[in-house]
Amino acid sequence: MALALDDIVSRCQEALVEHTPALAMRDVLDELVADPSALEGAVGPVERGGISTIHNADDLTILRVAWTPGMAINPHEHRTWAVIGMYGGQEDNAFYRRAAGGLEPAGGREVPAGDVLLLGDDVIHSVANSRREFAVALHVYGGDFFAIERSEWDFGTYQERPRDMARTQQLFDDANARWLAGEPGRELEGDRRG
Ligand SMILES: [Fe+2]
Repeated sequence: MALALDDIVSRCQEALVEHTPALAMRDVLDELVADPSALEGAVGPVERGGISTIHNADDLTILRVAWTPGMAINPHEHRTWAVIGMYGGQEDNAFYRRAAGGLEPAGGREVPAGDVLLLGDDVIHSVANSRREFAVALHVYGGDFFAIERSEWDFGTYQERPRDMARTQQLFDDANARWLAGEPGRELEGDRRG
């Protein structure tokens, strides 16, 4: 039987009641990303970069995030564990630690399709898609991704400010516009809005 969105949600909810939920979630995502076509069948194809909410509750958020080619998202924290299961393209993660006046870089990790990245609740990271294809992943958080009060940092100055999802949406909109403008051969129906 084909994978359904409900199956994804119920498998994640089962992991949530395990003794070590984040590790159990990593196992669930390891299994899911092993069959990317089944995941795409359940979640739907990527038409443009953005965040699609699959499930959002106080204790669990499941998103499908597609980073537009050439896009980078500034440093931010989640204040809950996060498990990223890549199933298309690649995310380039950069990590940071708090430092006087802002942040200092603390390494990074490339996460190609098929890989799962587990982030602890104090992680600060930025994400870039340096490839010419969408970077597509399930992002699972052990809390309400949209409600938790948390910080982001400016890419240039590392100045801390409250997490601003409208600003993030603008990054997606700008990246999508650049991507479409640079690809005149692409199908544009439905993507161009007056
Ligand atoms: Fe993140």
